[in-house]
Amino acid sequence: MEMKQQLDRYRNRVEQALEHHIANQSAAPLLQDAMRYSLFNGGKRVRPLLVYMGNQLLGGNLQAADAAACAIECIHSYSLVHDDLPAMDDDDLRRGKPTCHIEFDEATAILAGDALQALAFELLSTPTHDIDASTQLRILTSLAQGSGAMGMVAGQSIDLSHVGKAMTLEQLENMHRHKTGALICSSIEMGALSSGQATAEDLLALNTYARHIGLAFQVKDDILDIEGDTETLGKPQGSDTEQDKPTYPALLGMAGAKQKLALLNQQAHASIENFGDAAQPLHWLADYIVERQY
Ligand code: IPE
Ligand code: IPE
Ligand code: MG
Ligand code: MG
Ligand code: MG
Repeated sequence: MEMKQQLDRYRNRVEQALEHHIANQSAAPLLQDAMRYSLFNGGKRVRPLLVYMGNQLLGGNLQAADAAACAIECIHSYSLVHDDLPAMDDDDLRRGKPTCHIEFDEATAILAGDALQALAFELLSTPTHDIDASTQLRILTSLAQGSGAMGMVAGQSIDLSHVGKAMTLEQLENMHRHKTGALICSSIEMGALSSGQATAEDLLALNTYARHIGLAFQVKDDILDIEGDTETLGKPQGSDTEQDKPTYPALLGMAGAKQKLALLNQQAHASIENFGDAAQPLHWLADYIVERQY
């Protein structure tokens, strides 16, 4: 199957499943609207793609990966809704549309984020015949660690506490590995685990790959904040510079940031060589992250 067709298939699959789950969150219609608004506004779905790719690489059943694909996108969307709030990056545009707190209000945006987070863990812990219970627990742990105080939330805290302050390269890398890398590592790990056939060696190689593409993802995001344009990005260009955020281009200069990106891309490719042709989608994704324009 062509790569594009395969990606469309994965994207449609996760979007249909998400729509189904959101339809069930109807106790407070305003909240449900805000959750739907935040999930269905044109995200690239990179993290669910990684879940499905990890599952398929190891010969898994796609159905066993659906809960993790939906859960990671719920966590990611919640992280963006909160990231855009006035207390954080104070941005008013996301994926080409008003951010959740502008479209609704701040309280609703905070609650939509909270509810998306809870939904992620509900999806992962719902009894299923697709995965055995011990694997299901490992998947849950992976997402909890990737999203919490040792993962994405830690990265956001480091980010916000360093606005306008100097950072060493080591501190910057540590921040990026947490705020963006951690969820990318969880994505591929959950996908691999959902196959029911992941060896320790598989998980290690995939973790190395994910660490490289995860850091590359945020380095590219920092570059796009400078070189992109608001219309293509769908979010305000120059937001980092305006707020004096610590970023790769700020620390290394644009040429240094691009060199770092190229090195990470090479390392990502090298880390999955042992999987041979079966890892083609992962090679494609590593290049996509570096070449993307939004
Ligand atoms: C944006 O993530 C935030 C970062 C972690 C850099 P994406 O670029 O994956 O956002 P969407 O979901 O495609 O809009
Ligand atoms: C956010 O990083 C990463 C998250 C954990 C949400 P950014 O603040 O750079 O993401 P954008 O540029 O707003 O998408
Ligand atoms: Mg931010
Ligand atoms: Mg932001
Ligand atoms: Mg950014």
